[in-house]
Order: sequence, then C-alpha cells, then structure tokens
Amino acid sequence: KKILFVTSELTDLVKTGGLGDVSAALPRALREFHDVRVLLPGYRQVLESGQTIRVVGTLPGHAALPPCRIGRIDLDDGLIVYVLLSPELYDRDGTPYGDEHGQDWPDNHIRFARLGLAAAHVAAGSACISWRPDLLHAHDWPAALAPAYLRWRGIATPSVFTIHNLAYQGLLSPQCCPELDIPRGACRMEGMEFHGKLSFLKAGIAYADRITTVSATYAREITTEAFGCGLEGFLRAKAERGLLSGIRNGIDESWHPESDPHLLQGFSASDWHGKAVHAEYVRHHFDLEASAGPLFVVVSRLVRQKGLDLTHDVAGTIVRAGGQLAVIGRGEPVEEERMRGLAGRFPGRIGVRVGFEETLARRMFAGSDFLLMPSRYEPCGLSQMYAQRFGSLPIAHRTGGLADSIEDGVTGFLFERPCVESYREAVERALKVFALPSLFHAMRRSAMTVPCYWRQTVHPYLHLYRQLLESRHEQA
Ligand code: ADP
Ligand code: GLC
Repeated sequence: KKILFVTSELTDLVKTGGLGDVSAALPRALREFHDVRVLLPGYRQVLESGQTIRVVGTLPGHAALPPCRIGRIDLDDGLIVYVLLSPELYDRDGTPYGDEHGQDWPDNHIRFARLGLAAAHVAAGSACISWRPDLLHAHDWPAALAPAYLRWRGIATPSVFTIHNLAYQGLLSPQCCPELDIPRGACRMEGMEFHGKLSFLKAGIAYADRITTVSATYAREITTEAFGCGLEGFLRAKAERGLLSGIRNGIDESWHPESDPHLLQGFSASDWHGKAVHAEYVRHHFDLEASAGPLFVVVSRLVRQKGLDLTHDVAGTIVRAGGQLAVIGRGEPVEEERMRGLAGRFPGRIGVRVGFEETLARRMFAGSDFLLMPSRYEPCGLSQMYAQRFGSLPIAHRTGGLADSIEDGVTGFLFERPCVESYREAVERALKVFALPSLFHAMRRSAMTVPCYWRQTVHPYLHLYRQLLESRHEQA
C-alpha cells in the first residue's frame, strides 16, 4: 500500500530532535511492507542540501495560503521525499520553527497549515503528482491539520496522527480561521477549540481516524491531569473508544557501535578499545583532564522538559566522586546560560558545548559511561536507546518511554521522582556500579543487546495500518 508521512523534520535533511529521527527511520523500516514517502516543507536546509529537487506538482493558493510547487528528492537509499516549495514560507535562516534566537516564526500557522493542506491535496490526487496514498500518517502539531483538512474536505483517505510531544500544541487565535479556511464548526470543544484558542494538535487528535503516541506509558500518562496539558479528558475519551494507543519508537540501524560511520573506531562488547578511544576524544574535545573516573554525558535539547536544572544540582556529586561531565545541547537561552555557568564552576571536570552536532553526539554516546536524562516527562526518548546501544548506561527519571526502555539495575538506572534527592540516589548507585568492573561490564553488555531497532519494533504500526485499510475497504 502507499503511505504518506507528513512531518516537519527528517534527519537526512533537517533535524532539531527525535521527531526527525523517527520520520527518517520509520519509513525505512516500513519499506519492506509498504511504499512509504515523506512530505516535508522545503526549508533553506533542504534547498541547500545539495540534493537534486525535481518539480513534480503544483498547488493553487487557498485563503491566505500561497500557491506552491511540489518537488521530489530521491535520497541515496531510494527513500522518496516530496518537498513543499514555497520560498516565502520556508526559505529562511533558523530552525523549522523559529529564527536563530529561538523566536517562533510569527506566520507558523500559515506555514504549517500549508503543509497540512498540501498533504490533503496529495491524498485527494489533486496535486498533479501521479502518486496517491492509501493512508496518511501525520506527526505532531505541525502536520496535525493534514487529517483535519481530509475530514473537512470529505476526502476518504484514512489517517493516523502520532503525538511525539503533547506540550507543543500550535495555538492560534480563532480569528485566523478564514486565513486557513478552517470551517466554523471546527471551532468547538469537539473540534479544535482549546480555551478560547484553536489548537493544531487538538485538530489532529479530533479528526484523525487513529491517534498514537510514542510509548505505552506516555499513552497512559497523557490521559491524566499531570501529563495531559489540558487535553487529558479529550484523550481519555479517545482511549475509551480504542482510538488511542502507544507504540514505542525504535532506532535506526545506523546506530551500531561496530559500523557507525560517524565513529573514529568501531567497538563491541568483546572489544572495548574503540570505546576508550572515544572517551579520550570526548575528554580532549571538552577540555577535560585525563582521568580514569566515570564519564557522564548529556546530549539534549536544552529545554525545561529535559530537567537540566536537576543535572545542574547533582553535578557537584559527580565531580566530588571523581567523575566528569560533557554536555552538548541547544535550546532556551536560560538553559544554555545555566549550562555554561556549570562548566565555569568546574573547569577540567565539566565541559559544555552549545550547538547541534550529530557526529560529536554519536561519539559522546560511544565514549561515555553514563548518559544523564532526568526528563520531567519523556514521550519516548531516543537518546537513552542510542546510549544503551553504545554501552553507555542511562540514568533517567521513570517516566514515559524512559520507563519502557530502561531496565533499572540491568540496562541503566531509573529514579522515581523528578527531584534532586531521587536523582542523586540513582547517580550514587551508578557510581557504586562503576567501582565494580565486572558488574559494570555485565550491565553494559545487557544494555547493548536490548532489542530496539525499528525492524524489531515496527509490527504494531503494520497492524494498525492493516486495520485501518481493511475497515476503509469494508466501508467502500
Ligand atoms: P527530543 O526529541 O525530545 O529532543 P529524543 O531523545 O527523542 O528527544 O531525541 C533527541 C535526538 O536529538 C537524539 O537523536 C539526540 O542525539 C539528538 N540531539 C539532541 N540534542 C543534540 C545536540 N545538541 N547535538 C546533536 N544531537 C542532539
Ligand atoms: C519528541 C519527544 C521524544 C520522542 C521524540 C520522537 O520530541 O520529546 O520523547 O522520542 O519526539 O518520537
């Protein structure tokens, strides 16, 4: 069957976090079973990627949404990506969502409504491209209007909407309805109305045929007040009708310690030499002293979700125990400043780099003993799986996908409450294990063999697609 992924990130071309990785890896894992293609805005990073873009379709303007063209990129391994060519909306410096200073683009509602409507047109066969999907799979708020436009336009293509992070909702004023051609009827509680505003994310939940999120625990958590971001009641109603489920993310095959081309040297559970090479590389790169103590890393978006303030508060415990910490991250200016301050307090023991560097990140997973991930909430989390693959034990808050992918005391360390005391206790347990090499190595070996590749975890999606396609077939 033909499946269209609608997303705002694709790691091959543009990435700010895990959404890019999943949008790139899941279609590849599904390829053996389905013809999966991706629709992505044609950001400057895409235009400047050096990939050949062939124009294959055009779309007329609609309300405030400008006309645009659809280009096609054939990536090296054959994955086909349709890119939405609208220079006035997407050809800018900055991230997919905002400028270099982290300020959201003021026209994001237009930019991402354009994406959603284009997806609906492709599904309807009216985008002048010959390929027409049997099912549409939209990801997170930027793609959430895709299932909504399908519904509003009476297009019968079944749709799945995946929530990667409930906290980012894409809110806008109801006065924007005419600009985006949102029907009046949608501005209600059962539609996309949210406390006097309109929510892209809620539209995805309201109008998709099925809603998924990226771990079983997060699927439960978001039906509670503590994690539901005000949508818990709405989500609970979907869950009660069997329309909401949690499918844990997998990771891409490239995360392999023996063959990852980003690494300086491969390694495995029976040959640790390459791991030591990376530890030395990380120490050198972050101006850390030579040391035989444990090396902790943070690879993270620097936002409140990720609990960096808590890491700030346990850093002293790590340093006093002879440990070191290397941090790479980018995000909110306050969090960046906090991290820089930490490096200033412990020169030679803590190093911080503000930026986004894929190769360095991979070498940090490879070189470290422990990954710190005290997220307040975590829909799935990929970093803890990457770390485990590379023999670095995650220390994480027992929440969302962290709870589902780390076995406490076996493949990493979990703590119960997102507070310094609980976190510190887990760090202390990790330090004790580090001091017992045979136990430490046994844990590493367990972590490295956890089944977490997409090919080992993709089946629930295949099942979901099959159900939807079959029920649509029966209705027809
Ligand atoms: P989230 O999507 O919430 O950011 P995930 O753990 O799912 O969290 O995915 C984060 C992804 O982004 C991982 O691939 C991680 O390695 C990567 N990443 C995060 N920050 C950086 C950074 N500063 N440099 C390089 N890679 C990063
Ligand atoms: C989001 C979540 C993260 C998840 C990723 C991919 O960014 O914060 O937990 O792993 O999406 O699904």
